[in-house]
Amino acid sequence: MEKLIINDGGRLSGTVRAGGAKNSVLKLMAAALMAGGPCVIHNVPDISDVHSMVEVLSYMGLPVTFDRGTLDIAPADDIRCEVPYHLVQRMRASVEVLGPLIARYRRARVAMPGGCNIGTRQIDMHLKGLNQLGARLGVSHGFVEAEAEGLTGAHIHLDFASMGATENLLMAGVLAEGRTVIENAAKEPEVTDLVDFLTGMGARISGGGTSTLVIDGVDSLSGVEHTVIGDRIEAGTFLLAGAITRGEVEVTGFNPGHLEIVIDKMGEAGCRLDVGEDRISVSVPHGVSGIELSTLPYPGFPTDLQPQMLVLLCTAGGTSFVTENLFENRFMVVDEINRLGADIKTKNHHAIVKGVPSLSGAPVSAPDLRAGAALVLAGLIAEGTTEVYQVQFIDRGYERFEEKLNSLGAHVRRTTV
Ligand code: EPZ
Repeated sequence: MEKLIINDGGRLSGTVRAGGAKNSVLKLMAAALMAGGPCVIHNVPDISDVHSMVEVLSYMGLPVTFDRGTLDIAPADDIRCEVPYHLVQRMRASVEVLGPLIARYRRARVAMPGGCNIGTRQIDMHLKGLNQLGARLGVSHGFVEAEAEGLTGAHIHLDFASMGATENLLMAGVLAEGRTVIENAAKEPEVTDLVDFLTGMGARISGGGTSTLVIDGVDSLSGVEHTVIGDRIEAGTFLLAGAITRGEVEVTGFNPGHLEIVIDKMGEAGCRLDVGEDRISVSVPHGVSGIELSTLPYPGFPTDLQPQMLVLLCTAGGTSFVTENLFENRFMVVDEINRLGADIKTKNHHAIVKGVPSLSGAPVSAPDLRAGAALVLAGLIAEGTTEVYQVQFIDRGYERFEEKLNSLGAHVRRTTV
């Protein structure tokens, strides 16, 4: 077990580069299951979730190598079409192999993902859509068992613009017979990156980036070489680190167009953001003021930056109202932030954040990935020393997190508990 020890390090300044998007690359790796040839994926972050997905593909029998930011995934004719509980329990995104397995191998046995600290994380929309495509699905003894003679295109309407359901059904549709339409599809940039990856494999998809995806099935898919888009959530995390410390930070390596609403809301709170082609610089010329904020599916404010934004608003000169619309339990982090002297009250999916002059260091525990990052950012400005436990959550999605922060002038060190 490890923890991060953070001493208030004053204002951050300098430039840091965002890595490849975690929430894209995990699905590209699942899509590679359908490739008839080798897939080469560049700009892959060295994070534990990627290693977990490598373990999933290796368990199934695919030869995978991951070296210096590049994944090489070779095709395999006969694979084990199942993912055991311990791998799904470690990373729920493993369920994204369901669509590819059923589409190409016509069978799958995948452990049901448990909930996690931010919510129950159902997959009912995934299963309902796969059923509409002709898969026969059952859930027994904690596993999804699926088989299909062959999938047939269908007109699917998602009750909610679920990212994972959109991606699983998109991948299933590319090898289905005929046309599949997915209405109310998620429009996250990572979904569009998956559309581009599949198109490179020979899939026929239109509507990427819109809420209606139209897929005309093909008989087979080739391998592809692809570079993952920059991680907008990692980029936003470092921009908020710069704003929280009232420093001057530039983040490169991603598409600023993927953070439009974040730029707006940080600007509303008093941040100054200079936007370049593949970079954004942030500073806080006249202090931070309270704002209203609601998380929504893209292009709305991303739930994955909500905890980090809460920390910025903790020391604003005023009160903020934050509504979390995606996960029923994402305010878990509030109890931990309040241990650092913040004044946040929550009721159901609303939080009232009263700005306080300063935070004070304390030992805290990361309940999940983004909350862990937010607690580290809070430690950057908390007087004295802050210790963040459960660092393994942070390592799931941030490559060399403390190293990147220290390159901007922070004082964060990792030690065993
Ligand atoms: C993806 O999770 C991301 N994870 C999450 O990032 C992100 O917060 C989320 O999308 C929303 O943007 C990956 O891409 C690996 P959803 P996903 O399906 O696909 C409910 C991070 O920190 N729902 O859009 O699971 C679900 O319970 C992680 O990087 C159903 O009820 O998100 C949740 O409340 C955290 N039934 C809401 O929809 C379903 O069948 C949003 O889920 C599917 C989803």
